[in-house]
Order: sequence, then C-alpha cells, then structure tokens
Amino acid sequence: MSFVEPDSPSAANSGDVLRVGVIGAGVMGTNHGRVLAGLPHVELVGIVDPLDDHRKRADELIGCPVFAELDGLLEAGVDAVTIAAPTHLHHEIALNCIAHGAHVLVEKPIASTVEEGRAIVAAAQRANVTLMVGHVERFNPAVAAIKRAIAGEDILSIAITRVGPFPPRMSNVGVVIDLAVHDIDLIRWFTESDIVDVQPQLSSAVAEREDIALLQFRTASGVLAHINTNWLTPFKARNVTVATRHKYVQGDLLTRQVTECFGFQRDGSYSMRHLPVGHDEPLRAELISFVEAVRSGGAPAVTGEQGVASLEIATQCLAAPANSVHAAEGVRRAAN
Ligand SMILES: NC(=O)c1ccc[n+]([C@@H]2O[C@H](COP(=O)([O-])OP(=O)(O)OC[C@H]3O[C@@H](n4cnc5c(N)ncnc54)[C@H](O)[C@@H]3O)[C@@H](O)[C@H]2O)c1
Repeated sequence: MSFVEPDSPSAANSGDVLRVGVIGAGVMGTNHGRVLAGLPHVELVGIVDPLDDHRKRADELIGCPVFAELDGLLEAGVDAVTIAAPTHLHHEIALNCIAHGAHVLVEKPIASTVEEGRAIVAAAQRANVTLMVGHVERFNPAVAAIKRAIAGEDILSIAITRVGPFPPRMSNVGVVIDLAVHDIDLIRWFTESDIVDVQPQLSSAVAEREDIALLQFRTASGVLAHINTNWLTPFKARNVTVATRHKYVQGDLLTRQVTECFGFQRDGSYSMRHLPVGHDEPLRAELISFVEAVRSGGAPAVTGEQGVASLEIATQCLAAPANSVHAAEGVRRAAN
C-alpha cells in the first residue's frame, strides 16, 4: 500500500503525479472521474461504487479501474480522493479516507448534519490533510465575473433565483439542503461576511421535504439577501443580482451573461455594459484548485469550515416550523 503519511514528503507536494480516487460513480462522481482523468500530473487511480451498472458506466465512459468497495481504492494507494457518494455517507467515507492520510474534496453539502461536518473538519485538521468542499458555483465563470465586479463595492442587497423541475432521482433532502446551500455559500462569499439573521418560508407542495423555499437573510455586514428556490419550475433558471451603492450587477449563471449598470445620474439615466466572462468548466477549475491546494499545502478555495457554516445556515432555515407549510396538512397540494 502507498498511503501518504501526514507531513511526509509525497506526490502531494513534490510535483510528481498525484494519485487521486473518486468515491461514487453517479452523476457527479462520473464527472469528477472524467475531469481528473484529463488533468496533467494527476493519475485517476479508480472510482468506487457499490452498483455494478454504475461501475460499468464509469469504466465505459472513463476507462479507469473501478472498485466495488472503498477498501479496494485505498489499498491501491491514493494521495487524495473526491467524495461524490450520497450526502448521508460523506461523514463515514471522509473519516475513513482521512484516517488513511488522504486529502479530501467532498461534494456539497459537506455532510448531512453540522455535527458531522464539524467532525470531518476536526479529523482533517488532526491528520493535517487538505479538506475542500465542492461548492462548484464559486468556479462558475459568471459567478467569478460578478465577484470581480463587486470587489471593493458597498454591497446593499443580493437576490438569487435557483429554480427548475424535480430532479430525476429524489434524494432524502429538500431544496434547502440540495439547492439553496449553493447560494448561501455565494452570499457568504460575495459579502465576505457571516449570515446572522435567517427568515425562511418553506412549503412542500408535492414532495415529502420542502420543494419551495423563499429565504431571507441579513449578514453581519448589513447586506440583505434573498434566495428563491424550488423544484416546481418547468425550466432551469439560475440568476444572481447584486445591488451595490454604485452598481447593479446581474448574472445568468446558465448562459453566463453578466451585465452591470453604473454611473447613475440624478435624471435617472445610467450606463450599462456586458462584463467579460471566461469559458472554464466549473468542475475542472474546482478540481485544479483542489489539486493545487493539496500540492501547496495552502488553504483550499472552499474550506471545510466554510462548508460547515453554509450547512449551518441551511439547517437553521429548516428549523423554523412556524414558517413551513406541509402538503400533508392539506393546505396546498399541487399534485399527488
Ligand atoms: N456540486 C454540485 O453542483 C452538485 C450537484 C449534484 C450533486 N452534488 C452532490 O454530489 C453528491 C452525489 O450526488 P449525485 O447527484 O452524483 O448522486 P447520484 O445518486 O447520481 O450518485 C451517487 C453515487 O454514489 C454511489 N454510492 C452509494 N453508496 C456508496 C458508497 N458507500 N461508496 C461509494 N459510492 C456509493 C451510488 O451508487 C451512486 O452511484 C451529493 O452529495 C450531492 O449533494 C453536487
């Protein structure tokens, strides 16, 4: 076995090939594998999945070794892993990998509960391994353009819409943990401030868990923010609007068009321009960033603590029963 001992010189910091494994060969894990297989100085050691057909699909699409169990991957020897198994397994899998000295990128949300997330962070600190959370929207070039546009600005408010149809496979989480956690992370990142006030409105129109959420926040820096998310819209939309004292920035995260209004005049006129937006695949940029953090030993772009902080806010949104309306109460039922 070639497990990496924490603090020991290794491929992680020597510039040699970094041996990376992927855990979970579902939608995200297959994408992780595809991207990692194409990164320079990275060797995709293999992908783990308990399902035969998912392993077969990964083998066909990526042509890398596949393992039915995590032990097989760990025995093959890895410097780092990316975890794209279902969220309720992140805690157990991350702790196992960290115990073997592997650097970890774990998909968002970091874990099912804040306590589990904190346990992952503590284990990574003790083992001195890199822990990054896959809040991939930070690597969306449109989001990066918005972040650049508001740098140094006095941010007043943020509004984010993330809506679409029900996912093909329903997991055991609702829209707040599945979708809004992306935007909670963006609000914290844009404002570089903690969310201190949470006002959620939730509804379960069709699903067991909430499938509509209107979430309002206030940050410690005084920014008001709003997330509109649901699984009841027939098409996908992801829009971000940031109002600052001197600018109004609008971004479509799908078409990657970002515009800013500026130069507000007393007569109500203003100027408007399209901002330059890159073409990077967000997941590729995220995985490159993870590999660089592993090699440098520096703080990753999205730390475990930040992942826990966003999960904590999402959890607070769910812990407000007075504001939630459930279909089972017969208050509203859009479909059976
Ligand atoms: N960053 C994003 O934009 C984004 C998008 C979608 C999902 N996700 C996250 O990625 C994770 C996976 O989501 P998905 O949509 O790919 O789900 P998925 O159901 O498509 O894939 C999960 C895979 O994990 C496998 N699995 C189950 N138990 C396992 C185990 N013990 N070891 C290894 N693999 C196991 C399943 O067989 C399945 O193939 C979730 O945490 C989800 O929140 C992130």
